[in-house]
Amino acid sequence: MTQPAYSPGLEGVIATATSISYLDTEHEQIVLRGYDLMELARSKRYTEVAYLTLYGRLPEASELRAFEDRLRQEAELPEEVYRLLDLLPSRMHVMDAQRTVLSYLAGLEDPAELQDTSPEADLRKGVRVLARMPALTANAYRALRGLPRVRPDPSLGFSEGFLYMLVGTRPDPEAVRVFDVTLTCYIEHEMPNSTFAARVIASTLSDLYGALVGAAASLKGPLHGGANEAVAHMLLEILEAGGSARAEQYVLDRLRRGERIMGFGHRVYMRRPDPRAVFLREALPGLAGRRPEGEELLRIYGVVEAVMRREKGLHPNADYPVGLLYYLLGIPIELYTPIFLAARTAGLVAHVAEQHGDNRLFRPRVLYQGPRGLRP
Ligand SMILES: CC(C)(COP(=O)(O)OP(=O)(O)OC[C@H]1O[C@@H](n2cnc3c(N)ncnc32)[C@H](O)[C@@H]1OP(=O)(O)O)[C@@H](O)C(=O)NCCC(=O)NCCS
Repeated sequence: MTQPAYSPGLEGVIATATSISYLDTEHEQIVLRGYDLMELARSKRYTEVAYLTLYGRLPEASELRAFEDRLRQEAELPEEVYRLLDLLPSRMHVMDAQRTVLSYLAGLEDPAELQDTSPEADLRKGVRVLARMPALTANAYRALRGLPRVRPDPSLGFSEGFLYMLVGTRPDPEAVRVFDVTLTCYIEHEMPNSTFAARVIASTLSDLYGALVGAAASLKGPLHGGANEAVAHMLLEILEAGGSARAEQYVLDRLRRGERIMGFGHRVYMRRPDPRAVFLREALPGLAGRRPEGEELLRIYGVVEAVMRREKGLHPNADYPVGLLYYLLGIPIELYTPIFLAARTAGLVAHVAEQHGDNRLFRPRVLYQGPRGLRP
């Protein structure tokens, strides 16, 4: 029997059929439910795009109002969650705290509802999780750092309320708009490792929460969502080491040592631009004045980008501009990947619902390279 070709890292393998999203690299477009994601980011709020991601079409005005009301009503965390957060070790990464709480939230569901793997039940639970993600993210961080709780403010919209809880002060409209756009850029991206992980778990008919927990563990890795935090650390390291005048040498030294520059390269785009990075780059100059070191960080950003293009032919991915945007917005660095997870929740829920709606168990084979015929 001939084995199908082996593709390390499943590169180029079609893992599933989907009608949620597609990276059309030829036209440099991210197709989300038929729309160009960048056009959506320019003209729609995150909540509208979340509705589209979950339900497959843009909402009417009344549907959007009802959806946003629901997100508001379900935004508060159950009291038990605050108690759980207080028990977590302070050295824990916020991502791991988020993952732990997601697991705990499964236990608070009615058992029949938890086990219901119909797409309708997935969407029902998924909206509840999405609504709670901002308070969960902010309070996981705050509990680990010994800061007082922050409660969702029902008078604020989704992104405004989220940013408010992250930074602790009322954000201005420009900050809210930029933050909202980053959430939209993160909402869904075809079949990254975390989405694949969620679908693999869902394909055993395990529940939505389990799939989200697996996705959170996947997203944490620096080769995936963790890159946005690594980008901020790198830009600050270059700043410390002499700033933009030293940036080129910094990159060359790292490349010579065979190290990766975080925020560059992508399995699918590889040597083509990531449309999200191109789009989000536009927002940087407007925010640079918000921190004293902002303009210099922006110069470093430009040098690193130019050197990576010249030396490796690699373009930034979305995590590169986001790493700097969140820093300029005053968000603590350890929250960047947890925010990514919160934004991606809509996409993950849509994928789990789609998987459950037309399920086939994932069960691939291997290229066996070990010995055979040994006797015990
Ligand atoms: C995302 C990523 C894991 C994709 O990797 P991949 O598809 O497995 O590609 P490979 O690791 O095989 O890399 C292919 C080539 O590009 C180089 N490369 C890719 N990304 C690189 C980076 N960020 N810095 C330096 N070199 C990079 C590799 O060294 C390799 O070069 P070679 O062919 O000369 O050996 C990779 O680009 C990376 O590590 N990027 C940094 C982390 C990051 O930003 N992740 C967020 C992704 S949205």
